[in-house]
Amino acid sequence: MEIKSIKYDYNNMMSAYIGEKEGIKPKELSAVKAKAIEAHEYVAKNRGKGMMGWTELPYNQKEIVEDIIFTAKKVRRSCEAFVVLGIGGSALGPMAVFQALCHLRHNDLPKSKRKAPKFYVEDNVDPERMKSLLDILDLNKTIFNVITKSGSTSETMSQYLIIMDLLKKAFGDKAKDHIIATTDKVNGSLIKIAKAEGLKTFFIPDGVGGRFSQLCPVGLFPASVLGVDIKMLLKGAGFADRSARKADFKTNAPLISATLQYIAINKGKNINVMMPYADSLKLMADWFAQLWGESLGKAVDLNGKTVYAGQTPVKAVGVTDQHSQVQLYTEGPFDKVVTFIGVEKYREEVLISGGLDNVPNVSFLSGHTLNELINCEMLATEYALTKNQRLNGMITLPEVNAHTIGQLLMFFMLQTAYIGAMLNIDTYNQPGVEEGKNATYALLGRAGYEDKAKELKSRPEKCPNYIVK
Ligand code: PA5
Repeated sequence: MEIKSIKYDYNNMMSAYIGEKEGIKPKELSAVKAKAIEAHEYVAKNRGKGMMGWTELPYNQKEIVEDIIFTAKKVRRSCEAFVVLGIGGSALGPMAVFQALCHLRHNDLPKSKRKAPKFYVEDNVDPERMKSLLDILDLNKTIFNVITKSGSTSETMSQYLIIMDLLKKAFGDKAKDHIIATTDKVNGSLIKIAKAEGLKTFFIPDGVGGRFSQLCPVGLFPASVLGVDIKMLLKGAGFADRSARKADFKTNAPLISATLQYIAINKGKNINVMMPYADSLKLMADWFAQLWGESLGKAVDLNGKTVYAGQTPVKAVGVTDQHSQVQLYTEGPFDKVVTFIGVEKYREEVLISGGLDNVPNVSFLSGHTLNELINCEMLATEYALTKNQRLNGMITLPEVNAHTIGQLLMFFMLQTAYIGAMLNIDTYNQPGVEEGKNATYALLGRAGYEDKAKELKSRPEKCPNYIVK
């Protein structure tokens, strides 16, 4: 396979294209260059340390990758449905890679064409959804992968309890053949449970947090079960990582992109719209939203100063959202940066059929392809935003394959690491999420959370006058 690089075009972030009022001026870029270099140095110096274990994943998983591929082959042969139980970073990456690299209607394909089990990711505890899944699964032919780094997330562990109970009722001692765990080697409850039950277990390496975990067994195992070339995915990630080794705006795409977003945030652009023009990349925008939102949304910086940092990620998809969101992006408040993700060569080409020669308003479409149409619509939207002085950039994938998806994942993680360093925040913690998790434990009466329960009880009663029926 010919290796082709993804590219980032930021012309339309700059004043020369957007205009002096909204566009970023070269002197504004120069003014933050030292900060960008410092951020790059910080990331380079901390590679593989603390919570930055994710930078090394393209290089340090030789043995585990072999085990993943071996186990995945067995799973692929022995089941008709493969179900991930997980949430947040333990679900979004597997979903994004599945959508990007498998057939877009994978689960609807006949078995002979699918070549891998049907795939489901249960990233919610909506009882109706869980029941609906159980209604369609044949447990005899289903394998579950429970994924949780902390090993104690209520949502995932509730699902585990429900599923394990059903499996034990159905298969007794053989229940363990239907469930594989992915969790921390030492910490949390799942590792203890997995040992006690004798479950096959993959480990989430140290220093790899949920939203940075797609390139470890969290994402690699489900991807491999689905037939994705995970070695190529890692190669792509390594390729993007090595392209970012220098603090040079001309070669380091994630660095220049992080720097431009940093300037934009300081100019009040509080919303970051990610808009792929490919249905296969729709869930990549979802994965990115978690990465950007959870990593950058912080009340305090590393010096303890209140900063309320962050930029709200918004997911959109072209062309669908041209008929929903683009009016707002083009004419609404000047508070957004839009990043398009384009694809040079789609994996399919569809010709728009001829006909209706007597209706010129329609017949002009005939003879073109849907590929041309989607590309023209993306360029037209880029043009409309630019004409209206709206900051926008464009990431282009030569095609969607395991290598370019690996590149894209690494691009976004590096970009997030750089901007987090520029904002001087802890990119890797999530105290806001923990607060919610702890409150849930307290509300459900978990031992050790009595004080939190009291704190929740001490809230003022809701006033009925403010509730309208
Ligand atoms: O990025 C993160 O760390 C979080 O979003 C987690 O992925 C999420 O809360 C699930 O946590 P866990 O994998 O511990 O179940």
